[in-house]
Amino acid sequence: MRHAFVHERRSLSYLDARAPVPGGRGTLLLLHAFPLAAAMWEPQLTAPPAGWRVVAPDLRGFGGSDPDLRPQPAGSDATALSIGDYARDALALLDHLEIADAVVCGLSMGGYAALAMLGLAAGRVRGLVLADTRGDADTDAARDARGRMLETLATGGVRAVADGMLPRLLGQTSQAKRPAIVERVKRLAGSQGAEGVGAAILRMRDRPDSTLTLRAIRCPALVIAGAEDEITGPDVAQALHESIPGSSLVILDGAGHLSNLEQPEAFNETLGHFLTGLPSTNQ
Ligand code: MLT
Repeated sequence: MRHAFVHERRSLSYLDARAPVPGGRGTLLLLHAFPLAAAMWEPQLTAPPAGWRVVAPDLRGFGGSDPDLRPQPAGSDATALSIGDYARDALALLDHLEIADAVVCGLSMGGYAALAMLGLAAGRVRGLVLADTRGDADTDAARDARGRMLETLATGGVRAVADGMLPRLLGQTSQAKRPAIVERVKRLAGSQGAEGVGAAILRMRDRPDSTLTLRAIRCPALVIAGAEDEITGPDVAQALHESIPGSSLVILDGAGHLSNLEQPEAFNETLGHFLTGLPSTNQ
């Protein structure tokens, strides 16, 4: 189920699952949150919606994917870090798998990458699911917080960053009642590489405002948020929903920021319902 391919001299890893029902309805591309990896989509990969192929890349520098290449000598075409890099890697994965278009579901940082994909290649996004994410850029206060996180990374490493985030990644219900999920998120976040985590902080800090992209969305779109999400809660989801023409909004009770892990059955049901309602394609 884990595979890898080489794109621009880096190996990119991805998880690939198919529903045991023949007659493909399409591909669902899952883009993970910070500071996690494709493995956070385990509840969706192990129960793929009927007829759908589910593909989840490790964004560069996370999971089994190589981090960015070291800065190139002057005169090379090296570019600054951008959230669009994740989108380009995801598009390269679709190319590698010879998939023309996909329903793209991004959670939090994965949502930023999904919006960047739309900006780069809207025609390849057949449907969009934005979970526990936002469309605006970082405020000055949020940018300052990213700076403090970079300091934590430099002094305490990835584990310190993960420990600092954990109380806000999971909702109160999960923290009180689901020790296995807490442990799993802690392990996954704590095992990421410092290079990938540091680059992601910079990419998120410098990401552009996507308000115009949201208003221009013409594909079917669904916004999901955990009712207990303290990072991008229901009010943020409501604003996102209002910015996307024709979108639907679902708030999941008993879930925090990682709604797909915290309420997997409800998340999968919501996703399944959205996918079932999509027009079929010839792919
Ligand atoms: C995430 O879960 O991906 C991050 O919380 C996103 C962010 O910090 O903006």
